[in-house]
Amino acid sequence: CGIVGYVGGQSALDVVVAGLKRLEYRGYDSAGVAVLADGGLAAAKKAGKLVNLEKELVERPLAGGSVGIGHTRWATHGGPTDANAHPHLDNAGRVAVVHNGIIENFAALREELAERGHALLSETDTEVVAHLLAEEFSSVGDLAEAMRLVCRRLDGAFTLVAVHADQPDVVVGARRNSPLVVGVGEGENFLASDVSAFIAHTRSAIELGQDQVVELTRDGVTVTDFDGAPAEVRAFHVDWDASAAEKGGYDHFMLKEIAEQPKAVADTLLGRIDANGRLTLDEVRIPDAVLREADKVVIIACGTAFHAGLIAKYAIEHWTRIPCEVELASEFRYRDPILGQRTLVIAISQSGETMDTLMALRHAREQGAKVLAVCNTNGSTIPRESDAVLYTHAGPEVAVASTKAFLTQLVACYLLALYLGQVRGTKWGDEIHAVVRELARIGEEVERVLETMEPVRALARSLAHKDTILFLGRHVGYPVALEGALKLKELAYMHAEGFAAGELKHGPIALIEEDLPVVVVVPSPKGRSVLHDKIVSNIQEIRARGARTIVIAEEGDEAVVPFADHLVRVPATPTLLQPLVSTVPLQVFACELATARGNEVDQPRNLAKSVTVE
Ligand code: G6P
Repeated sequence: CGIVGYVGGQSALDVVVAGLKRLEYRGYDSAGVAVLADGGLAAAKKAGKLVNLEKELVERPLAGGSVGIGHTRWATHGGPTDANAHPHLDNAGRVAVVHNGIIENFAALREELAERGHALLSETDTEVVAHLLAEEFSSVGDLAEAMRLVCRRLDGAFTLVAVHADQPDVVVGARRNSPLVVGVGEGENFLASDVSAFIAHTRSAIELGQDQVVELTRDGVTVTDFDGAPAEVRAFHVDWDASAAEKGGYDHFMLKEIAEQPKAVADTLLGRIDANGRLTLDEVRIPDAVLREADKVVIIACGTAFHAGLIAKYAIEHWTRIPCEVELASEFRYRDPILGQRTLVIAISQSGETMDTLMALRHAREQGAKVLAVCNTNGSTIPRESDAVLYTHAGPEVAVASTKAFLTQLVACYLLALYLGQVRGTKWGDEIHAVVRELARIGEEVERVLETMEPVRALARSLAHKDTILFLGRHVGYPVALEGALKLKELAYMHAEGFAAGELKHGPIALIEEDLPVVVVVPSPKGRSVLHDKIVSNIQEIRARGARTIVIAEEGDEAVVPFADHLVRVPATPTLLQPLVSTVPLQVFACELATARGNEVDQPRNLAKSVTVE
């Protein structure tokens, strides 16, 4: 969910709604606002996208004040209805609260409140907080203190922002687990789930830590822990500007982000490979001794970032000979994984806020492992709780389906793998020298792919009526196939599956029928000819059974030509780097196919970009 709070001289409603627009990527199944005005509190909330709320505000305007809060929701407890939308109010309508996360003991609190005569109107876990705040406020007369008292009674993950009509110049926030950032302005202050909500007003920000309560007035920001003791916070300057998060002429953020990939990749490489092909990752604060002694690498991530991890495994094991496991973060801690002081855990996350990944990394650190984050979002929770971080420099990614962040995660993982090899004194053979040289200029190759995408778009449009599309790959092409299928599921709401091409004969080949589109990611013919020959056989096997083959193959690979109903060319690269070019046509394909089906590309149904619940 996305949260905004404002206190200052402007119209709170305008600032809050504009902020919510920027945060819609965090959830968009309902939205609401509350403002303090004329000694009272006015609220509006609506199921569906933010535009529904905006329409409601035009039809039934709220009295304008200069203190307000807002919320855009990704439903957990209670479906996306008007009643379940935030903010939630107490029965007297004096307190309003918005929430991100899950309050685990809400059922007990609800019962307790009902016994004391409170009428709870929604199915959410959040509503209990409004009632508890109202009770505490009536005895202590101060919203920040009431918030501290309430937080001490809550279990689970919660970030809360509240206002009270009896203290009309104050916004109070509380943070546990889910993110909350303060924007510091002149005569105005902001609270939001991330800086994009207030970047148009100020670039000066304060990151709140775990279990902290913040009180905002026009001229002051006071942060304490849940017991009221002054708390340490980190101030930072936001170095990207508002235009970086605008669509810049593209119909969708996703199209813009696909197009930005050459630059995102180049920015992530910048300053990290020197003229002699040596890696300089000074920001990796894990001592060399730890990297030298690591006897195992474990990668944890979710969704697209997990696919980046699957590819990283091939590079890490091949270049460094350190055993590497990759695991879905949501599964990791529940199976009692074997970790120790010599385990290096890599947590990959675009947002830095994915709760599954955060919980997995906490578990790893508790077991003594060192955690290195690969992350795109400065100031987010995952890097803050890791031993070190290697930032990807993709810039803000707004579309829910990840594109440029994925490519930069790959680059970061390649850099890390090479760096590990360098620190551990791996013999730098010709192969690795060639990889480093190619990696340094891979942005140009991504650009070349983007220039040749028109036939892929036409193909996607022609397949928009299909029910199923399959994806096959081998070696690093296998995770690419998984990612191609995920993109199509997310965006086109189609049945799409990725398989290891060698596994086809063990089951999935039964799915092949006349005219079923199958995308095949073909590995580089050089150096790995056995694998290449095998996949050419796989293409023939499926084609013989009626499949329509869509073959992604390197320039110059002539062996595939007779068996490809559609051929998509990508530049020749070292095998391990191929995902950087072969993923791009699959992103374009999914985006175009979803558009042809009339789907909303940037905000697919049921999803959120940043999932801050487990
Ligand atoms: C959500 C998004 C996915 C994303 C995953 C991991 O499920 O919809 O696109 O890959 O989270 O996100 P992260 O921010 O941790 O990379």
